[in-house]
Amino acid sequence: MNEIEKKEIESLRNTIRRHDHLYYVKNSPAISDREYDRIYGRLKELEKKYPESLTSDSPTQRVGGKVEQRFRQVVHPIPMLSLDNTYNIDEVRAFHQRVLKNLPDIQEDSIEYVVELKFDGLAVALTYENGKLVRGATRGDGIQGEDITANLKTIRSVPLTISSELFKKIEVRGEVYMPKKEFQRINTIREEDGESLFANPRNAAAGALRVLDPAITDSRKLGIFIYTIGFVDKDVFKTHSELQKQLDALGFPVNEYNQVCLNFEETLAFIEQWKTKKDDLNYEVDGLVIQVNSLSYRKKLGSTSKFPRWAVAYKFEAEQVVTQILDIVCQVGRTGSITPVANLRPVFVSGSTVSRVTLHNEDEINRKDIRVGDRIVIEKAGEIIPKVVRIVDSSNKRNTPFKMPTNCPECQERIFRSEGEVVWRCINAICPAQLKERLKHFASRKAMDIDHLGPTVIDQLVESGRVKTFSDLYTLKKDEIAYLERMADKSAQNLIDAIEKSKPAGLARLLFGLGVRHIGQRAASILANKFGSFKILREIAYEELEKVMEIGPVIAESLRNFLDQKTNIQDIEKLSKLGVILEEHEVNEKSTGMLLGKQFVLTGTLSGFSRDEAKERIEFLGGRVVSSVSKKTNYVLAGKDAGLKLQKAQKLGLTIINEQEFLKLIGSV
Ligand code: IVH
Repeated sequence: MNEIEKKEIESLRNTIRRHDHLYYVKNSPAISDREYDRIYGRLKELEKKYPESLTSDSPTQRVGGKVEQRFRQVVHPIPMLSLDNTYNIDEVRAFHQRVLKNLPDIQEDSIEYVVELKFDGLAVALTYENGKLVRGATRGDGIQGEDITANLKTIRSVPLTISSELFKKIEVRGEVYMPKKEFQRINTIREEDGESLFANPRNAAAGALRVLDPAITDSRKLGIFIYTIGFVDKDVFKTHSELQKQLDALGFPVNEYNQVCLNFEETLAFIEQWKTKKDDLNYEVDGLVIQVNSLSYRKKLGSTSKFPRWAVAYKFEAEQVVTQILDIVCQVGRTGSITPVANLRPVFVSGSTVSRVTLHNEDEINRKDIRVGDRIVIEKAGEIIPKVVRIVDSSNKRNTPFKMPTNCPECQERIFRSEGEVVWRCINAICPAQLKERLKHFASRKAMDIDHLGPTVIDQLVESGRVKTFSDLYTLKKDEIAYLERMADKSAQNLIDAIEKSKPAGLARLLFGLGVRHIGQRAASILANKFGSFKILREIAYEELEKVMEIGPVIAESLRNFLDQKTNIQDIEKLSKLGVILEEHEVNEKSTGMLLGKQFVLTGTLSGFSRDEAKERIEFLGGRVVSSVSKKTNYVLAGKDAGLKLQKAQKLGLTIINEQEFLKLIGSV
């Protein structure tokens, strides 16, 4: 590498950094995607040619750093305190009075406050030495956190380098969050795969940050706002707002709504505005942070062991109401999970009547010591799902503490709780409650796709004892169905036809439909394509299953357990006798291998077929459909009105194809 090339590499990196900042932090790209792509490609080329030039802060190195088996513990140079909470304006006024009292020589109207959104995510600290990001850590308990540098580097708005002119060493602090849309996207996928859902974007963000594979963090679109400096080698600022201006100038994403309020009245007015405006944001905020702007006043005010005296959090009020727990029942889900649910005296809260609330699991009930008969405060978390906030103190004699049943409330079989799990499960494959849920899943569109087999019909078929297994569905006679409530002759025939029509669905759909834990559509399709028939699959040992690409130990163990249960095998054999196909159709080298290892992203509206159909086709041919565009994407199939994904694909220089080109690719035209 000569001097000129060395200079070119540095200049390319700086150019990319500048444009990443404009794109991801400022939301205002300054060059075309094609141009960005050209620069990025040139840098990649030079780095490949001169591997010795590669440094970890190159913009090409965001994903891929190593994470050890466990995250290393790190001690924060200055503790990361938390904030005292206030829940109403009177408490905010009381905070202001305390500030005044502790600053006796200061005029009230010379106290400025900075008000910021309180992002509902995870606090992190980023340390830069000589302009390079050297460490990213979680807050942990405030004294000690975990080193998650490799994962934080995947967040595009985290600068890998900053100017080192002013500070040789600086630690900035902020909050990592998951945008609401991304949260919905991930939960939809989890639902499809029969996995438990994240309760809120905060938990989902925490999950994404604490994985050992940075590629997974990268695939979740996390964002970050930097709100302050923790440690810096030079004290140069007079106010917090000045400090934030500097953070912005250094390239950090500082939230656009931070506001300096010149006095307390302005502060109150600003708080008022946000009570409703918060719902329009693309990320969750659970309140506002109100802090004294002057850093010298902050010094005078100091901190308690937990909280600074110069700041307070104002938590938005969710509407809360008091009601009573009439009963606690246990619900059985498709995978046998037993969830305790409280039946409530019905109350109206945030726009609808609530008569049930989930109590999540045994540990949660014990932690809150929730008992039947208790009066409780409930609110709607995120304004949607009701949750128990607390128990209202009462001097009345309380019932005895709640105890989880030892047996399934539906089938009376023993229930189990594995080590490390909070959930109790019924593992009886023919449990009626599970059965209803499993049949619903079996009939669903992405599984056996049986039209007319809705929840009401399923409930009746199970409750009457007529359907106990999947195979029983295929022995139903028209007369038996017509006998069910609200079933006319015609609908009975429609259902019989639909059941018949589902028989050749193929092994992948069947495997997915069986609802084996951890086997989502993707795993089912891989297994079906790899082994071709159920007869072969059932003989495969755990060790061999585990080795299959993308399968791994969790799926392998779950599948092996399922296959080792006699009742499961008997039912599948019966399905086969009744004409259900246990093979994957047309499994041959060509059809399975054509798109092997190819990653697709679908975007926009397709006209000739639905996205699900395209997905099915791609997976059948060995390819994989993922939801977000990355450098690893081989093809972006773009329909009408394709939006951001298309833009990003162009920017990354990926192969973008339309429907016609897609059909050509798979040999259909
Ligand atoms: S300032 C001394 N500003 O809220 C603590 N915190 O309970 C100064 N948070 O752990 C924190 N948004 O995770 C600050 N704009 C914001 C914030 C914010 C969210 C979180 C942070 C902190 C917790 C405090």
